[in-house]
Amino acid sequence: MQIVYKSEPQRGLLWQQWLAQHAPDIQLHLWPEIGIAEEVEVLVAWQPPADLMTVFPNLKLLISVGAGADQFDLTQLPASLPVVRMIEPGLTQGMVEYVTFAVLGLHRDMPRYFQQQRAAQWQTHPIKPPAQRRVGVMGLGELGQAAIQQLASLGFDCAGWSRSPRQIPGVQCFAGNHQLADFLARTDILICLLPLTPETRGLLNAQLFAQLPRGASLVQAGRGQQLVQDDLLSALESGQLSAAVLDVTAPEPLPPEHPLWRHPAIWLTPHIASTTQAETALAALLENLRRWERGESLRGVIDRQQGY
Ligand code: GLV
Repeated sequence: MQIVYKSEPQRGLLWQQWLAQHAPDIQLHLWPEIGIAEEVEVLVAWQPPADLMTVFPNLKLLISVGAGADQFDLTQLPASLPVVRMIEPGLTQGMVEYVTFAVLGLHRDMPRYFQQQRAAQWQTHPIKPPAQRRVGVMGLGELGQAAIQQLASLGFDCAGWSRSPRQIPGVQCFAGNHQLADFLARTDILICLLPLTPETRGLLNAQLFAQLPRGASLVQAGRGQQLVQDDLLSALESGQLSAAVLDVTAPEPLPPEHPLWRHPAIWLTPHIASTTQAETALAALLENLRRWERGESLRGVIDRQQGY
């Protein structure tokens, strides 16, 4: 099997060496080296090359190297080409860590304490038990479910919201637009792990913030285009929101003069919440390739209708 990898080179090299040793029938080429283009059946990529099907006329499978596949313009790809996103334990663990860090930071008032530190202000605030902190996760896929389970184990009062109904033991699950208001009304810390779709673009806006309890906070680790940044700044200004932890922005990188960088109630990280880990992703990749060879269903197939 001839595969081309087009993403972070370090990881590609490790995968290439590992596959050569453990699955020698699979030959992984590291872009821009592609072997014989007509023989390439699988592309594993973050950003695919322009004119993908011209470059690889016999491509049969496109695998995103990340948790999302919104970087692909699905309208430009043949409907028959399966597109798969990455589901692997290292990526999930990274997101669980980031979300836990952000929720604990917000729960323990850290944005306020860091501001106080800069002003050399020794002032304490009451501690709330986690059971009195209502955490809400939007997006209950692989990452959302893992995050919510970790947060529940820390004692937070957890709920989840997703497009279609889900059941998670011990977690109150809301679904669809008709249950969004109820979910928001009970959420002190809102975490967005939604995929980017036409429905989620601009979803985190003034209207949504207004439905949260006053003084709620936001953790955004979905996609930058989901957040209306001016609405976030206004909500922080008015006190409707008290703080935000942002790992994604639009655009990325955020220009140096952008107000989000310097806002005292915002923690901003450069899209590092989680990333596909070379070692742990290998097994997931190989498993999907073998399933594909055997004609079995793949893990993480993108539904073209839903866009994720
Ligand atoms: C990163 O955002 C990813 O999709 O893996």
